[in-house]
Amino acid sequence: EMDAYINELMGRMTLQEKIGQLNLITPGGGIPTGSAVSTGVESKLKDGLVGGIFGVSSPEKVRQTQELAVEESRLGIPVLVGSDVIHGYKTTFPIPLGLASSWDMELIEKTARVAAKEATADGIFWNFSPMVDIARDPRWGRIAEGAGEDPFLGSEIAKAMVRGYQGDDLTSPNTMMATVKHFALYGASEAGRDYNTTDMSRIRMFNEYLPPYKAAIDAGVGSVMSSFNDVDGIPASGNKWLLTDLLRDQWGFDGFVVSDYTSVNEMIAHGMGDLQAVSALSLKAGLDMDMVGEGFLTTLEKSLKEGKITEDEIELACRRVLEAKYKLGLFEDPYRYADDSRPKKDILTKANRQVAREAAARSFVLLKNEMNTLPLSQSGSIALVGPLANNKNNMLGTWAPTGNPQLSIPILEGMENVGGRKVKVRYAKGANISDDVEFAKKVNVFGTRIAIDERSPEEMLNEALDLAAQSEVVVAVIGEATEMSGESANRTDISLPESQKKLVRALAKTGKPLVLVMMSGRPMAIGEEYELATSLLQVWHPGVEAGNAIADVLFGAYNPSGKLTATFPHNVGQIPVHYRMKNTGRPQDGDTFMKFKSNYLDAPNSPLFAFGYGLSYTDFDYGKPVFSQTKLKGNESLKVSVDITNTGNFDGEEVVQLYTRDLVASVTRPVKELKGFQKINLKKGETKTVTFELTADDLAFYNFNLEFGWEPGDFEIMVGPSSDNVQSAVVSWEK
Ligand code: IFM
Repeated sequence: EMDAYINELMGRMTLQEKIGQLNLITPGGGIPTGSAVSTGVESKLKDGLVGGIFGVSSPEKVRQTQELAVEESRLGIPVLVGSDVIHGYKTTFPIPLGLASSWDMELIEKTARVAAKEATADGIFWNFSPMVDIARDPRWGRIAEGAGEDPFLGSEIAKAMVRGYQGDDLTSPNTMMATVKHFALYGASEAGRDYNTTDMSRIRMFNEYLPPYKAAIDAGVGSVMSSFNDVDGIPASGNKWLLTDLLRDQWGFDGFVVSDYTSVNEMIAHGMGDLQAVSALSLKAGLDMDMVGEGFLTTLEKSLKEGKITEDEIELACRRVLEAKYKLGLFEDPYRYADDSRPKKDILTKANRQVAREAAARSFVLLKNEMNTLPLSQSGSIALVGPLANNKNNMLGTWAPTGNPQLSIPILEGMENVGGRKVKVRYAKGANISDDVEFAKKVNVFGTRIAIDERSPEEMLNEALDLAAQSEVVVAVIGEATEMSGESANRTDISLPESQKKLVRALAKTGKPLVLVMMSGRPMAIGEEYELATSLLQVWHPGVEAGNAIADVLFGAYNPSGKLTATFPHNVGQIPVHYRMKNTGRPQDGDTFMKFKSNYLDAPNSPLFAFGYGLSYTDFDYGKPVFSQTKLKGNESLKVSVDITNTGNFDGEEVVQLYTRDLVASVTRPVKELKGFQKINLKKGETKTVTFELTADDLAFYNFNLEFGWEPGDFEIMVGPSSDNVQSAVVSWEK
């Protein structure tokens, strides 16, 4: 039916109209992330020269846009209306790295569902999310936008997000088409610098970086966005191996591929030729839609005349774009997402904000809690200090252009809401996020994130110290401003800015219990702060309900259950450091320095905080894991069970993790690979048995010849609360 419809339509299209479908424009309504924005938007729509648009929102504007295409162009083909809805639309959820730290797939799916409902209520039905780039370099600002370092967890999250956005019916007025990005390997940009070169072995690609994209495709994602970087020397947007051989022929993807913002044009700077050449190269590689740069629109006809591309290639790309429109039900009703009654009903509802509050609380990771300082008592006096303690401008985090910072709850307000009448919370800023004027200017490109106070640093500090002296406990909210991470926000120094380091040192000297609430879009090098703090809670950028969620956790209304999904290094020199490392031929035993082993003179091999690490207000006691058998044959499955008891004083949730190690293989294998996890709820004193089931297929990997399969032999199977705290047994698995 779809084929017949599109055949008939394409039979009536001119060459120019077909090329028009490959053109994605923006009038610049959101954040323009390149130097160009589109011109002549209205006339292009009328001339049938637009396939999709982004940066337009509200039912009214979307209807007007659609009317230009549907009523005024010759063939009346509706346009796709897209947007970056990365962690919520107007109800902003925690940044993706934070959401991932919940290890809660149902919750993540729910946030995507709410985002789709809100975005479609505002006329948007094509989303440039999920971003599933594996990232192991916290210098890279966009580590904030992904799920962290692990391919297995990243794949589960990719699937949950696609399900959340797309639901099971793309034509429903409250689901949206998802885009998996940035294909591929963008998270491995060299030196942690955005848009930089990527170069890695195929075996690493297949085993470590590609799985989440593949998972999104298997989950039925509608579109794929190509990345800015090159892959094996050819920029992704023009890489035929990537966009056709792998994506379509090997993986069977049948949606359409959109470029990133002017990434086709940027191939000129990559050194691949002029605009005509790079546009032809991209089309031939399998790119279907050109974002903003209009290389397709302005050069493909010429290339066709000169025999550099074929009409079939244009037709194929055009067909894929039209198929997406068909799947979204646009030909049936181009205005199905332009319903004026919906924004009021569906956007920023109480229920949605409640999801944001719960999601935020579940994304926090407790990194230290000495003397059970947390949860805080709901009586007494608290000194709430720090540049992020009463700061609406920095709660939403990176890539939240549709959210309104002014609607966010600062921590001070949240503490007052949740604390109750018997607790006295007083506030002092204490320090600027940074005192460095030049640094602040770079961070403040899209609005003031770092506000430098008129008062002197000494005056601010003294005010905070006075307050600390009069209070029983100090809570300092510190870390990164929004836009100190995210796109084009890379750092070579991932420690706290000096202004805040001084504040923490001075507060620690007061001898009062010091609770550090750390906000950031990346793992930070916070070894010193870890030592100085009594308690340390990592809260990422929590979103619109920041203050309420933080107060819920600080006062114990919610017991933290997050676990890290990206390793925190001691310092930048340790990077890359992640849990899935290989053993090497000269492994060091633990962290004791040994000459002529693989190690450093000035830092341990182990990180500050490992993947999977995170504490709770209660204690979980792990029993000895029980293995259903230790000798297995091909199609048998292994059951691993472990009893977990809540031995502390609070109800709580725990993420139980299963890792494997292939002890002998035809290629070197990681010392640990996550192969399963379960998040469970345990009441005080309660014991539950968690059971994992493994089959030989779970042990499969890509070998030297890039064949996917498992190799018989011995495997270490590990269970525990964190990648660096496991109990294990060896099983043998024969064919
Ligand atoms: O979707 C984004 C992408 O992640 C980065 N460049 C711009 C795109 C559209 O806004």
